[in-house]
Amino acid sequence: MTRRISLTQYLIEQQRQHGHIPQELRLLIEVVARACKRIAISVTKGALGEVLGTAGSENVQGEIQKKLDIIANEVLIEANEWGGHLAAMASEEMEGIYLVPNRFPKGEYLLMFDPLDGSSNIDVNVSIGTIFSVLKKAEGSKGVSEDDFLQPGKQQVAAGYCVYGPQTTLVLTFGAGVAMFTLDREQGSFVLTQEGVKIPEDTKEFAINMSNMRHWDAPVKRYIDECLAGEEGPRGKNFNMRWIASMVADVHRILTRGGVFMYPWDRREPNKAGKLRLMYEANPMAFLVEQAGGAATNARQRIMDLTPTQLHERVAVVLGSKNEVERVTAYHLDSA
Ligand code: AHG
Ligand code: MN
Ligand code: MN
Ligand code: MN
Repeated sequence: MTRRISLTQYLIEQQRQHGHIPQELRLLIEVVARACKRIAISVTKGALGEVLGTAGSENVQGEIQKKLDIIANEVLIEANEWGGHLAAMASEEMEGIYLVPNRFPKGEYLLMFDPLDGSSNIDVNVSIGTIFSVLKKAEGSKGVSEDDFLQPGKQQVAAGYCVYGPQTTLVLTFGAGVAMFTLDREQGSFVLTQEGVKIPEDTKEFAINMSNMRHWDAPVKRYIDECLAGEEGPRGKNFNMRWIASMVADVHRILTRGGVFMYPWDRREPNKAGKLRLMYEANPMAFLVEQAGGAATNARQRIMDLTPTQLHERVAVVLGSKNEVERVTAYHLDSA
């Protein structure tokens, strides 16, 4: 059984004994975790908290914003802006970067988040989440601009997500493995429930939105056709399928029992990008998955090697069990 220590104790141990994290970063993550607890409370209230339904506005991606998209964004900003650890923040729900107001001290870190992932699942009471990624501002750079954020994912100093499901679970990495913390609602604290999370290299489970099949590129179609052919097909085994439509929940399943998740580029998107956003969806999930022994590519290259050119850049995503991700990637490279 894993040692039942609090998130706070875990973070202090990481700072003190292992030297993995500086104090400023530890405090930043504590604040993010506190914000996630507040979001969890709103999520749980549902209709009683008047948090369901749409807000009537649109975000920069052209998506209709749900009330909870906006609430979660505000909670994250309010919780993080005064702490003194951040230079700026960026979010799916804000077009430009959010500078820490002048009345507060500034730090060196940059925080990016998808405040509420899986918006289409809010009103139907299915698992949703928050995804976050932390970068460090380049040394010596004066002020802060969008350019400071455009670093490849391999430069992330921390990443994680919180899934609001039957349990509220926070999953974290600082580049030295993955740890999971379950929210103890009576105590009001996150408690370590798993360390050294590992994704099995092989799997018999895939996750993709099959309704997009007619738009897929040939290598994606080939991979899925082979999975669907089962024992009689070239893979010689039967595959199961899951698609929750909340990336957080789909990735959480993969970190728990393996699998491959794909949101590939398809013909609806002209510029060869996918649907998911590189900086606050793909990068943090790629970091977690790699730290758990899995792999994450855009079907051709490692996601964390990509240098972003825009804050809201989109990317194709293939992640999870290493051997399956390598197979999908090889099918794409072979067809090039
Ligand atoms: P968000 O709710 O933050 O906009 O993200 C939704 C994403 C992701 O969570 C999920 O994997 C995907 O959209 C589902 O897309 P489809 O509805 O096309 O299946
Ligand atoms: Mn959205
Ligand atoms: Mn999302
Ligand atoms: Mn979102």
